[in-house]
Amino acid sequence: MSTPKLFTPLKVGSIDVKNRIAMAPLTRNRARAEDDAPHELHAEYYSQRASAGLIITEASQISPQGKGYAWTPGIYSDSQIEGWKRVTDAVHANGGKIVIQLWHVGRISHNVLQPDGAAPVAPSALAANSKTFDGEGFVDTPMPRALDIEELPGIVEDYRVAAANAIKAGFDGVEVHAANGYLLDQFLRDSSNKREDAYGGSIENRSRLLKEVMDAVTKEVGAGRVGVRLSPFSNANDISDSNPMPLFTHVVELLNGYGLAYLHLVEGQTGGPRDLPDGASLSALYDKFDGAHMGNNGYDRQMAIDAVENDQVDMVAFGRPFIANPDLVERLKDNAPLNEGDQATYYGGGAEGYTDYPTLDALKAG
Ligand SMILES: Cc1cc2nc3c(=O)[nH]c(=O)nc-3n(C[C@H](O)[C@H](O)[C@H](O)COP(=O)(O)O)c2cc1C
Repeated sequence: MSTPKLFTPLKVGSIDVKNRIAMAPLTRNRARAEDDAPHELHAEYYSQRASAGLIITEASQISPQGKGYAWTPGIYSDSQIEGWKRVTDAVHANGGKIVIQLWHVGRISHNVLQPDGAAPVAPSALAANSKTFDGEGFVDTPMPRALDIEELPGIVEDYRVAAANAIKAGFDGVEVHAANGYLLDQFLRDSSNKREDAYGGSIENRSRLLKEVMDAVTKEVGAGRVGVRLSPFSNANDISDSNPMPLFTHVVELLNGYGLAYLHLVEGQTGGPRDLPDGASLSALYDKFDGAHMGNNGYDRQMAIDAVENDQVDMVAFGRPFIANPDLVERLKDNAPLNEGDQATYYGGGAEGYTDYPTLDALKAG
């Protein structure tokens, strides 16, 4: 039998990947507490997974204000750049490619995580019915402060600088996180954006902040090194839209104009059912985008092989399977059984449940 296309190389913008399996972005809350920097443990974790065609890092805040959970890494300070450099060196040494997911959480944060205990920021002063992790436990997300229009250029600039920092840190590119109910998604959707200025109201206005971020980031690092993640039909973090198909059709058409490396769609509810609302179509969105199509959410081996073989997507991103299987690519190739992940160690902690999942070879060696 010939090799399934899933295991064959692809050019993704300016990034050459050795197979069509991506490691999906996975927040693991293990950054150094004093400076939110990744360290040696992260280098080990990511380099263990370097057989992926492309690693997308855990979401990483572009500024102190962009942080929403304890111990998530940043990409705005020198020590963070230095920490990430160790990670990218280790991944490259093992023959992998890696991009960083750029994150501003908006209202999915808490005063205790914000500079000077300030309220988290959002398009509008509307609290999300969601939770965040403050280092001690899960807490309700509080009432945010609506951003002044004068503050938005500063946020766009934070994205630009974060993208420049990513290149300094040796990344192959960046993924702009516009999914899962965080800041950029909060601007896109009419459940969270009630603004009456140029950033609210019409679909075009609600897409304006994303457009400005894409302008800045692509100009800084080159569109061929930039991907973007959307979750058009997901309600993660209490987000929704009264009419998502026209909204996301506009967004994908807008994104297509940049010549980006890839479009990454969370298909259905993030980490949940793949069902779509009536009238929704993922293929209609992918069809509007000329770069590589990356699909994610609940894929198993056969689904991934079929989706790539049938040209539904060019790449498949696996999330939870990569937590528990550092050698996921080899296991999928061999149709070998997968380790089960331990949810108790998903968020926070040290090496346990992070770098100690066995490879197939280690298991065979007994
Ligand atoms: C522990 C954990 C952390 C996650 N962190 C992120 C993240 O930082 N950024 C993001 O876009 N999605 C994040 N997600 C969502 C995953 O990328 C992915 O969309 C989801 O797990 C569904 O894919 P899967 O079925 O292959 O796991 C996270 C999911 C899990 C389980």
